Amino acid sequence: MENKKIQIFDTTLRDGEQVPGCKLNTKEKVKIAKKLEDLGVDIIEAGFPTSSPGDYQSVEQISKSVSNSIVCALSRAVEKDIELAGNALKNAKRPRIHTGIGTSNCHIRYKFNSTPEKIIEIANLSVKFAKRFVEDVEFYAEDAGRTENEFLAKVCENVIKSGATVINIPDTTGYCLPQEYGEKIRFLKENVKNIHKITLSTHCHNDLGLATANSLFGIINGAQQVECTINGIGERAGNTSLEEIVMIIKQNPHLNLFTNINTKLISSISCLVSDCTGMKVQANKAIVGVNAFSHSSGIHQDGVIKNRETYEIINPEDVGINESSIILTARSGRAALAYRYKKLGYSLNKRSLDLVYSIFLNHADKKKEITDQELKIILNKANLNSKLLHSSRRIINVV
Ligand code: KIV
Ligand code: ZN
Repeated sequence: MENKKIQIFDTTLRDGEQVPGCKLNTKEKVKIAKKLEDLGVDIIEAGFPTSSPGDYQSVEQISKSVSNSIVCALSRAVEKDIELAGNALKNAKRPRIHTGIGTSNCHIRYKFNSTPEKIIEIANLSVKFAKRFVEDVEFYAEDAGRTENEFLAKVCENVIKSGATVINIPDTTGYCLPQEYGEKIRFLKENVKNIHKITLSTHCHNDLGLATANSLFGIINGAQQVECTINGIGERAGNTSLEEIVMIIKQNPHLNLFTNINTKLISSISCLVSDCTGMKVQANKAIVGVNAFSHSSGIHQDGVIKNRETYEIINPEDVGINESSIILTARSGRAALAYRYKKLGYSLNKRSLDLVYSIFLNHADKKKEITDQELKIILNKANLNSKLLHSSRRIINVV
């Protein structure tokens, strides 16, 4: 069976950037966009031009700076928005307009005070209008996660007729369970006329921590594009994180899927996005958290030192991290301590290790983590003690 390509649509600069405190200026956005292109992202959602003159300018500049990736601009299903998006994209080599409207009962009733029929009409008009500016038009059915499948299918069938090339099925509120979201995608694949002519996309939010799982079930059930962000940033609890979905695909060849992403660049772009947005990555975040490849308990450290695969399913080099870290805490064992001393150039025999270890534990109980600097201090202490105990014997062999 031939592997199927999954398109990676990155929305760090749009859904990610709209988060409080994540504001980026044009220079930062262009810098990140170029890195996203190097990373191998298929589509870069550069911004929402109607939202502010600054965002319009960012989309314009990114359109000029990016040549391989598709550059996409968001708009509501409003002519003025679509026109601005089209104008901002005019220098893009591969432009895409992403327009859409809410399709759930909740959105139709409370946001638009409208009817399902009227929503379909607006959807059709907006796609047709966007086609005046670009060939590639993606339609989003906002809150598709809470939209009844039959109505969603009707919307999809209509916008395909109107010329949509991609249809985005956002779980805007992070409401769906993975199986439910997967079934939604499958339902559309099986019930929408001409669905094979377009690309079906996932866009999952993380309100229940299920964004990545939902996206995975979406692609397993037939979606060909995943919308995601670096470090999973995005509205409220965030979006599917790019690094997670990409590494899930890479680590599971039996899924018969692949992406274009150069995974070795993941760690560096994660740091860049975190630095530019000021949004810190939580330490235990999968793939890019500082603890993702750190081992601190004695049992785990002993295993990893013997063979990395005992406690790691991902080779850190695959995501651009040189090596796993052995962190020294009061839970660490002798193997970890000897390993870290060896890295500093000291080889400890059994007796010296026992002695150093007891001094180390005393320190570690008072601290969160023991640094290299402190290891040297401990070594000095041990030397002193040992001289007192065994006057003529050197207990440490410096290599
Ligand atoms: O979450 C969502 O529904 C969105 C759309 C605007 C695509 O971000
Ligand atoms: Zn979103």
